[in-house]
Amino acid sequence: MFDIVLYEPEIAPNTGNVMRLAANTGARLHLVRPLGFTLSDRTLARAGLDYGTRTAMTVHDDWPACLAHFSGQRLLAVTTRGKIRYDSIQYLAGDVLLFGPETRGLPAVVLDGLPDNRRLRLPMLAGNRSLNLSNAVAIVVYEAWRQCGFDKGA
Ligand SMILES: C[S@@+](CC[C@H](N)C(=O)[O-])C[C@H]1O[C@@H](n2cnc3c(N)ncnc32)[C@H](O)[C@@H]1O
Repeated sequence: MFDIVLYEPEIAPNTGNVMRLAANTGARLHLVRPLGFTLSDRTLARAGLDYGTRTAMTVHDDWPACLAHFSGQRLLAVTTRGKIRYDSIQYLAGDVLLFGPETRGLPAVVLDGLPDNRRLRLPMLAGNRSLNLSNAVAIVVYEAWRQCGFDKGA
């Protein structure tokens, strides 16, 4: 129902957690190279448990290739520099949810291509920097899925 995109993820266990989340929610997972780990990394498999085989995952060579793949779909960037709160929009089946790398966040070259109403932020207390990547993905995916009535979920 949703596509999750991790842009240049750096830390294998975070991606493993997201693999498991995707398998449990029916989301498809996309990774944009370069990755900060190899796909055979043991910590990736450990965090994803046996979910690797149940996660629909695509690896894109770079951002232009990923963008081309999603031509025609609505792209929503989740970023600490977001202009609107993640729970203030209506999610639609087919939305693409984009998240940035752990140490850098999404770069200007990606964010500049998106209007303000497609840049979402998760509220935090003042003075805090950011949430863990896999926690941020879980919060947004569950809100999007909730709005769709937890379709096919039990
Ligand atoms: C550890 S954070 C990156 C931190 C980076 N210094 C920044 O400011 O974007 C990794 C990713 O999690 C998501 N994220 C974490 N906290 C967030 C927040 N409060 N609002 C929106 N996205 C958040 C974003 O996709 C971010 O690129």
